[in-house]
Amino acid sequence: MHVGHASPSGTARFRSRFPSLAEAGHFRKPEHVRYLSELWLSSIGIGTYLGEPDTVTDERYSEAVLEALRLGVNVIDSAINYRLQRSERSIGSALKQALSSGDVQREELVICTKAGYLTYDGTVPADPRRYFIEEYIDTGVAPRDQLVGGMHCMAPSYLHNQLERSRRNLGIETIDVFYIHNPEQQLAEVPRDVFYKRLRQAFIALEEEAANDTIRVYGTATWNGFRQNRDSGEFLDLERMVSIASEVAGELHHFRAIQLPFNLALPEAFTSDNQAIGGKPMSLLAAAQELGICVFTSAALLQGRLTARLPEFVRETFHCDSDASAAIQFARSAAGVTTALVGMSRREHVQGNLEVAGQPLAKPADWQGLFQASR
Ligand SMILES: NC(=O)c1ccc[n+]([C@@H]2O[C@H](COP(=O)([O-])OP(=O)(O)OC[C@H]3O[C@@H](n4cnc5c(N)ncnc54)[C@H](OP(=O)(O)O)[C@@H]3O)[C@@H](O)[C@H]2O)c1
Repeated sequence: MHVGHASPSGTARFRSRFPSLAEAGHFRKPEHVRYLSELWLSSIGIGTYLGEPDTVTDERYSEAVLEALRLGVNVIDSAINYRLQRSERSIGSALKQALSSGDVQREELVICTKAGYLTYDGTVPADPRRYFIEEYIDTGVAPRDQLVGGMHCMAPSYLHNQLERSRRNLGIETIDVFYIHNPEQQLAEVPRDVFYKRLRQAFIALEEEAANDTIRVYGTATWNGFRQNRDSGEFLDLERMVSIASEVAGELHHFRAIQLPFNLALPEAFTSDNQAIGGKPMSLLAAAQELGICVFTSAALLQGRLTARLPEFVRETFHCDSDASAAIQFARSAAGVTTALVGMSRREHVQGNLEVAGQPLAKPADWQGLFQASR
């Protein structure tokens, strides 16, 4: 297992190898975020969600990760359930190669993963139900009464178990950012007060992991939770979540990162004032800034759907000659976004998408002008 974690000097060294990207503003420090404030993170991160759970895709992802590291990406995102643990393992094999060759060092990289969904181990077993029961229920790892929809759990015993597996899959001692995956899933079945009790228990467990240096910080990676209106069943209140972390561990708590989709079709993190601090309504991006939380965005391309047929004015606004570049430029140029994640299992997509990293970020007036243009 590779020891270490992202460090200020390591990420600065990574950045210094890409002077033109650095000059263009591709690396940024989340200065408002305790523990991460001195790290340089790339504005584009590689995501590993989509694709078949097969060997061909494993190899493609490993190559894509190596290419991303070569072209200036130092943020890597996964989840234990992505491609049945195979995405984490593909990253693990890319890291093994890159770290053993000395091309990069562990301290240069921000490696993020998630736990929450029950998953198989590489392939779908002959009897899937039996596998879950034997592996997770009968062993007490996932308490039956905390399992939602037969597939989501954020109980402490489950998070500890999954984290241990993720560390092995990735081949690293310390995970830089460890998320509870789509916690809002629990709200489909449990009342809000029970949900927050479970979240508190999860945060206690993750504070223990941070104390053991198996993770640096933790957070919540979401799909609907931070985009919905306050009266929605799945809504997540960031202020309340931060106050739970503070109750659990005081000011030095490690709840420091969130993830949510943000793209040209799902812009709620900026457009919706669904969050509030001290009763004052504000957007998720503004609230995260005030609360000292680092924002990683997902699905910059709406899972590939924004790579064709965007209106011409979008490309013009961002001075991009492809729809994919314009969509990535939109996500990474939003004030308050540290890293925009783009799923890429193909080396050629990494190469094409990283071209935009050499371009200056969109000017705030142009970026906001897009919202007027689309009305
Ligand atoms: N709830 C959550 O926590 C959550 C939810 C969704 C996503 N995420 C994270 O965010 C990452 C990004 O989101 P995503 O992967 O769902 O969606 P995405 O980044 O919007 O799109 C990824 C898809 O776009 C394709 N693509 C990439 N560049 C392209 C290009 N230049 N031209 C055409 N197609 C291109 C990829 O193909 P190839 O694979 O063939 O390169 C892949 O199929 C995920 O991988 C995951 O790490 C988290």
